[in-house]
Amino acid sequence: MGAPDWHAVGAVDALTDGQMQAFQLDGRRLLLIRAEGRYFVVDEMCSHEDYSLALGCIKGSRIKCSLHGSYFDLASGAALDEPADEPIRSYPVKLEQDRIWVRLD
Ligand code: FES
Repeated sequence: MGAPDWHAVGAVDALTDGQMQAFQLDGRRLLLIRAEGRYFVVDEMCSHEDYSLALGCIKGSRIKCSLHGSYFDLASGAALDEPADEPIRSYPVKLEQDRIWVRLD
């Protein structure tokens, strides 16, 4: 197997701070998020129940699930509050050639 590929997922000015956009790549449901001047790509679905985090909101560098209120750290994916106790996945992101790139390992 070769090294994982980087995928272009948008222009560097695609979103403003606090915005997110759901998309699908390689059969995965993902969220592109801009928070505190950085871009993040994380799993769209909450780790607690099958519920879209796109319905939640961005607070600083965290995303809040609107169903039961758990927060997740956007950089690490860690669940910061109950009831969620499993992380979501946060994927490597880079900005290059005026585009946002994500790597799905
Ligand atoms: S579904 Fe997200 S915290 Fe329960």
